[in-house]
Amino acid sequence: TSILILNGPNLNLLGTRQPEIYGHTTLADVEEMCRKHGKSRGIDIACAQSNHEGALVTAIQEARGTHDGIVFNAGAYTHTSIALMDAIKGAEAKVVELHLSNVHAREEFRHRSFISPVAIGVIAGFGAQGYILAIDALAAHLGVA
Ligand code: DQA
Repeated sequence: TSILILNGPNLNLLGTRQPEIYGHTTLADVEEMCRKHGKSRGIDIACAQSNHEGALVTAIQEARGTHDGIVFNAGAYTHTSIALMDAIKGAEAKVVELHLSNVHAREEFRHRSFISPVAIGVIAGFGAQGYILAIDALAAHLGVA
């Protein structure tokens, strides 16, 4: 089993970007946590991040046949990107949508997600730990729990 941890715009700044909202854990820390957790469960973890919408579209397309599922934090593109929604749908990608913050407790514009309609499910509000929860949820969905 192979899971891709895919992070979108500004998540490269994790740990220093609005830590009161997103925490002090860096993206490198998150990726290391995910790799370790995957290893303990016999799941291969690959990690990628991009600030570019098109690069994220390509990553989703290329995940087909390579990864069994994707834990995807699309950042602000969550709320704007029909292209990412179409990529997930088009590639029949199995996606768990992930947000560090509880987007529903924040501004109105963060309540809408173009990812949710094409995701298996959503995890939001649990900080960096959410990535671990998402891996476990995806593994359960894939039947490798
Ligand atoms: C986020 C929430 C988004 O609204 C925001 O634009 C982000 C991060 C989160 O992880 O909480 O960049 O996806």
